[in-house]
Amino acid sequence: MYRSYVVVTALFSLAGVSCNSVEQKIYVELNNMVPCVRLLNATHQIGCQSSISGDVGVIHVLESEANLEWVLSTGPNPPYMVILESALFTRSIMMKLKNGTGRVAGAAVVVSKTNPAEGFSPHTKCPNENTGVYSESYDPTMAHCNVTVWNPLGNGLSYEEFDFPIFSLNDDNDTEAIRQCYLGYNLGVNGSTPEYPLCAMQLFSHMHAVTDTATCMRRNDINFSINPEMVCDPLGDYNVWGSTKPLNNTAKGHKEGESMVIAATRLDSRSFFWDVAPGAESAVSGFVTLLAAAHALHNVTQEAHPPRTILYTFFQGEAFDYIGSSRMVYEMDHKQFAIDLDNVHSVVEIGQVGLRSSSELWVHSDPVSRRNNSINAEVSSLIDTLKSAAMNLNVTMSVPSFSQPLPPSSFQRFLRARPIPGVVIADHQSAFSNRYYESIYDKAANLNLTYPANLTEDEQLEFVTETANALADLATVVARALYKQAGGADAQLINIKAEPKIVTQMLYGFLVRSNNTWFQALVPPEFKNFLSKLECHYYVGVSQTPSHARTPTRLVQYLLANLTGTTINITKENCHNSLIIKPSSLPQLYSYVWVQGVASPNSTERQGFCVRSSVRLSKAVSPAFDLLQEYSSKDYSTWTESRWKFIKARIFLVASHDLEMLTLGVGVGILLSSLLLTYIISSKADILFSSGREPANATY
Ligand SMILES: *[C@@H]1O[C@H](CO)[C@@H](O)[C@H](O)[C@H]1NC(C)=O
Ligand SMILES: *[C@@H]1O[C@H](CO)[C@@H](O)[C@H](O)[C@H]1NC(C)=O
Ligand SMILES: *[C@@H]1O[C@H](CO)[C@@H](O)[C@H](O)[C@H]1NC(C)=O
Ligand SMILES: *[C@@H]1O[C@H](CO)[C@@H](O)[C@H](O)[C@H]1NC(C)=O
Ligand SMILES: *[C@@H]1O[C@H](CO)[C@@H](O)[C@H](O)[C@H]1NC(C)=O
Ligand SMILES: *[C@@H]1O[C@H](CO)[C@@H](O)[C@H](O)[C@H]1NC(C)=O
Ligand SMILES: *[C@@H]1O[C@H](CO)[C@@H](O)[C@H](O)[C@H]1NC(C)=O
Ligand SMILES: *[C@@H]1O[C@H](CO)[C@@H](O)[C@H](O)[C@H]1NC(C)=O
Ligand SMILES: *[C@@H]1O[C@H](CO)[C@@H](O)[C@H](O)[C@H]1NC(C)=O
Ligand SMILES: *[C@@H]1O[C@H](CO)[C@@H](O)[C@H](O)[C@H]1NC(C)=O
Ligand SMILES: *[C@@H]1O[C@H](CO)[C@@H](O)[C@H](O)[C@H]1NC(C)=O
Ligand SMILES: *[C@@H]1O[C@H](CO)[C@@H](O)[C@H](O)[C@H]1NC(C)=O
Repeated sequence: MYRSYVVVTALFSLAGVSCNSVEQKIYVELNNMVPCVRLLNATHQIGCQSSISGDVGVIHVLESEANLEWVLSTGPNPPYMVILESALFTRSIMMKLKNGTGRVAGAAVVVSKTNPAEGFSPHTKCPNENTGVYSESYDPTMAHCNVTVWNPLGNGLSYEEFDFPIFSLNDDNDTEAIRQCYLGYNLGVNGSTPEYPLCAMQLFSHMHAVTDTATCMRRNDINFSINPEMVCDPLGDYNVWGSTKPLNNTAKGHKEGESMVIAATRLDSRSFFWDVAPGAESAVSGFVTLLAAAHALHNVTQEAHPPRTILYTFFQGEAFDYIGSSRMVYEMDHKQFAIDLDNVHSVVEIGQVGLRSSSELWVHSDPVSRRNNSINAEVSSLIDTLKSAAMNLNVTMSVPSFSQPLPPSSFQRFLRARPIPGVVIADHQSAFSNRYYESIYDKAANLNLTYPANLTEDEQLEFVTETANALADLATVVARALYKQAGGADAQLINIKAEPKIVTQMLYGFLVRSNNTWFQALVPPEFKNFLSKLECHYYVGVSQTPSHARTPTRLVQYLLANLTGTTINITKENCHNSLIIKPSSLPQLYSYVWVQGVASPNSTERQGFCVRSSVRLSKAVSPAFDLLQEYSSKDYSTWTESRWKFIKARIFLVASHDLEMLTLGVGVGILLSSLLLTYIISSKADILFSSGREPANATY
């Protein structure tokens, strides 16, 4: 393999690439490429990496699967850097490339703007197969998705290990530069063998961590005593939770006399590439519905609080073996949370709900725990509650017709701890309706979110889409059912109604543009720079402190505070210090946040205000790390993300090996002749420079 290429600068002149500096003349840096990175669990490493000095290969734009022949055997100039249209980013092709190492230096996937019609999911067919409730010991007939394969389109690419770098190409200009370079240099005239110089690409994504989580955590510890250079970090962030009645969060463990209905959903998603996780259907549809339901319940729970308290939970890191829910259940089980499992009356979880056809939604429950009569009675009554709440709305709640286990869901982690009555609401009867599960394509378009042309940003923000209407109807059903489930009076149900406008604004903010006037008004001033003109991504990441919690986590926190909290008339200073200086502010019960607010009509100054709510963050780091330090745990997530020094991609021209040798030869020749010349000059120096030289022994 050739690792050292001679860069031919003089020959390099790409159309449209302006060359200001020498550096740019030699290399064209590609700035919008996203790598696939290495993740590790108890037993495996997955993902991609380059060698430490970056991998270089001659660019080959793959035209079809048959065209792989060139890369894997016939092409004369290996190794190749394979450029794939996203239609060719299939398991079959990637596994052949993986098998062809030595001739494959790396790959770059051109991300298409339109979603592949046939569907695409790089996730497994049976998500979180080993960490849900359906183990061999729970019920062997239901383990390993035996009854229903939830994600049949899953090709498992996200869980493969590649020992070459794979990047995604998201920028049309980058793609065009690569294509021009390829067309200009790498295609032989009339099918002949292409001649040097050739266009090559170099990808840097060297990963520090190897083998598995136990190995890298051990290395972290060793390194830490010498220098604080970590090699991997546990995946983790923060769960968001809040309740209809404030809970004393200082007093942990059982709350005497409290009975809680948990309304749960998940906050995160993932894809093959690092940090790209639009999660529209897999996460956003569910948590937007729960936020809207919480808002719909706000007034009525203030005025006529039902006998039971409703606890809203938004779990992070669920894509990686249920990090967030397993942590909260662990804390409830070990007196580390505001309530314990004895306080839990029932669980209502909102799964993927954005893609229902013909208004039908499905209520899933666990057939195993329902073998117990009292659990079965509770579950049946909860299902009836949902069905009757849906009656007068454009929603139908159906129950799968056969005995089917729960889809992948946070509720499974509660069932792992003990039998608790509960249901999971989803838009699919058996296999997912989502054809882009945990992929880069699960974005706004997957939820049919489109806006008429000609609308300004603010008009788009408020434009009520069909999807928003549908999710608002569902949020109303969920809110009414929760109120009923919490023991609330039927007479109040009519007052519970979710607002399509709030739903549409949330969909816009979470899936299209988080930097919108509404989100700007309800976040703290110090958070405003995290808002973006693009969509959010929902990869869990590796945050270790609340102030570094992921942007979506904090957005959901501030939204839940706005939608379920109250504004109080205190100064900014008091709002920040309410935890310290004023016992009457009840910091055990409430959290306070100072938000930007909006500018009054004839001013540019924002009118900030203080919001009091019961909303809090709680750690979503697997207990396998900070609590148990069992890095090979089979019960808890052990996923870690490797660290790396830098991620870089660039293209340039390379000369042939022969040319390289020739250049070397010429170089050596020049060196020798200059040495000779120097020798001659210095030996004849007396003659040549006789008048100009100082005597060697001159003193100063
Ligand atoms: C990998 O390559 C070997 C020989 O090089 C071949 O026998 C095997 O079938 C290949 N496997 C795949 C999955 O292509
Ligand atoms: C699923 O479970 C049934 C009943 O135990 C068993 O007969 C069948 O072989 C299992 N199927 C798979 C794919 O494991
Ligand atoms: C680790 O991940 C690999 C790849 O997905 C999987 O096969 C394996 O079962 C996982 N190990 C554990 C202990 O979960
Ligand atoms: C792509 O190039 C065009 C023309 O050079 C430029 O106007 C445009 O801003 C570039 N786009 C990006 C995303 O850099
Ligand atoms: C909350 O719990 C703590 C610890 O048990 C207790 O000291 C405090 O008085 C409680 N606060 C309220 C408002 O109940
Ligand atoms: C809550 O009550 C206030 C005042 O009664 C009213 O203005 C507001 O629209 C209500 N909100 C909801 C979501 O029903
Ligand atoms: C999305 O739009 C397409 C085409 O307009 C339509 O066929 C499909 O039913 C829509 N899906 C949903 C969930 O509304
Ligand atoms: C139900 O949907 C239909 C068509 O989508 C609409 O005409 C009707 O008004 C809706 N009904 C309710 C109660 O929202
Ligand atoms: C957008 O607005 C302009 C002027 O207001 C109008 O000429 C044009 O037809 C509009 N386009 C669409 C798609 O509505
Ligand atoms: C958000 O948008 C405003 C204009 O509405 C702009 O001034 C601000 O710089 C943007 N913030 C970020 C972080 O892009
Ligand atoms: C929520 O935000 C809106 C501004 O969009 C504001 O008018 C309202 O007072 C806020 N409510 C709370 C409780 O913060
Ligand atoms: C807030 O409090 C200040 C003084 O404490 C008072 O002057 C002001 O009118 C209050 N504002 C509102 C909206 O109640």
